[in-house]
Amino acid sequence: MRALFARKPIADLISEEGHPNSLKRALSGGDLIMLAIGAVIGAGIFGTIGTAAAGQTDAAGHVIRLGAGPALIISFVLLGACCGLAGLCYAELASMIPQAGSAYAYSYATLGEVVAWIIGWDLILEYAVGNVAVAISWGDYFKSLMGGWVDFPPWLTTGYRTALLSTDPVIHGMLNTAPHVLGIPILINVPAFGIVALISGLLLMGVRESARANNFMVAVKLIVLALFIIMGVQHINPKNYTPFAPNGFNGIHQGAAIVFFAYIGFDAISTAAEETKNPQRNLPIGILGGLAICTVIYIIIGAVITGMVPYQQLGSTADPLAFALNATGMTSIAKIVALGAVFSMAAVLLVFQYGQPRIFFAMARDGLLPRWAAKLSRRTRIPYVTTLITGGFVALWALIGDANETYDLTNIGTLFAFTLVCVGVMVLRHIDPDRKRPFRVPFVHVVGVVGAGLCIYTMFGLPRLAWVRFGWWLVIGLVVYLVYGIRNSTLRGNPSRT
Ligand code: ALA
Repeated sequence: MRALFARKPIADLISEEGHPNSLKRALSGGDLIMLAIGAVIGAGIFGTIGTAAAGQTDAAGHVIRLGAGPALIISFVLLGACCGLAGLCYAELASMIPQAGSAYAYSYATLGEVVAWIIGWDLILEYAVGNVAVAISWGDYFKSLMGGWVDFPPWLTTGYRTALLSTDPVIHGMLNTAPHVLGIPILINVPAFGIVALISGLLLMGVRESARANNFMVAVKLIVLALFIIMGVQHINPKNYTPFAPNGFNGIHQGAAIVFFAYIGFDAISTAAEETKNPQRNLPIGILGGLAICTVIYIIIGAVITGMVPYQQLGSTADPLAFALNATGMTSIAKIVALGAVFSMAAVLLVFQYGQPRIFFAMARDGLLPRWAAKLSRRTRIPYVTTLITGGFVALWALIGDANETYDLTNIGTLFAFTLVCVGVMVLRHIDPDRKRPFRVPFVHVVGVVGAGLCIYTMFGLPRLAWVRFGWWLVIGLVVYLVYGIRNSTLRGNPSRT
């Protein structure tokens, strides 16, 4: 038991600094805010916002989740509060332990090795599985943008699981109409695969180059969202705001649980801690600044879109922002917004494809994953092995996967990580009260308890299937730890370097 809950001393975490196997500091506070916006605004606001407003039913007409209706803006406010409290806790831990592993590293210092492993394993749901959904959503927008110029055969733009799970007879029928090889239908999403491959290649070029590409994509996404707001606000019909909350608080709660996907990512910049200049100052600026900007944008977009069209219509579309513009006669603006969505989601992919390898890297450096995975490129000091592994995993899953299937799993995994970060910050105040904290959470016990409570409450808004899958994911993770990690951990005296 003592081994399971062994904690890694913070001094060890910080002393990774300057070691040949540590990363290169290249990012400023401004870069971090841009990275946060890059990671946050994407498939959530361009895709799941419609489901959150309208709700979701299955093919037989059973309700999977209730919609928030125009009260979606209350869902956004509540999520802003929930993520704001978790963000404060992230900021304290990230400035105190500026290390690549993010919540994994903080748990190692506070709650012990087995909890750290579980969190590291859980973060795969946030980063890699989340990116599968974003890549598929990217592919959908790309395909509709190209429509008219390049018409791809449907079997090259639809993943096998999307066809299998679809309630649309044409899409489901592709299981029979697609070409077959050895009796297996060939249904692959080439655009989703291609964008992940492209982004992984960009990341291998170096961290400064990646940040520069991100800054450009973030500028495009902010311009496009401003355009949506300015044009949309002129087409608001106040009648669409009644009824305001058609499903009462249950709708607001269940709507929040799905659109939470839109908030994920402000925490991802904590994985850049080892590559940030003056991380003690810049990490809190990046995390809290990025989150505040995105929350304001979301509340405004929620108010505008539910004023433009009756909320019920938003459920049947994969691209609700473009749909609302088309429905109000602004077809050319809709094309521009679709183009913006393609850039926005590429930026999300970039930051998450950046974050996941760094978490694997930290775990491999600690011996919980094979040490060869922690190898750095000599020239760029990029963890290239884990970057390639992440790229392969996400690209192959996106090739045959389904987006809707992965949103809920990502949300539940991320909310669980946020909960443990809120708990971890309180634990560390008790076990290591004198350590220097460049950023301190005010009223830490109130913030920690309410933050954890809100995260757990949001988790309860997710469908049962998400809980079942999440439970299985954790069980598999625990088995991997007991078979490999517990024996190879550097904390147990195994050699620590590659
Ligand atoms: N928040 C990110 C998105 O919405 C994951 O795409």
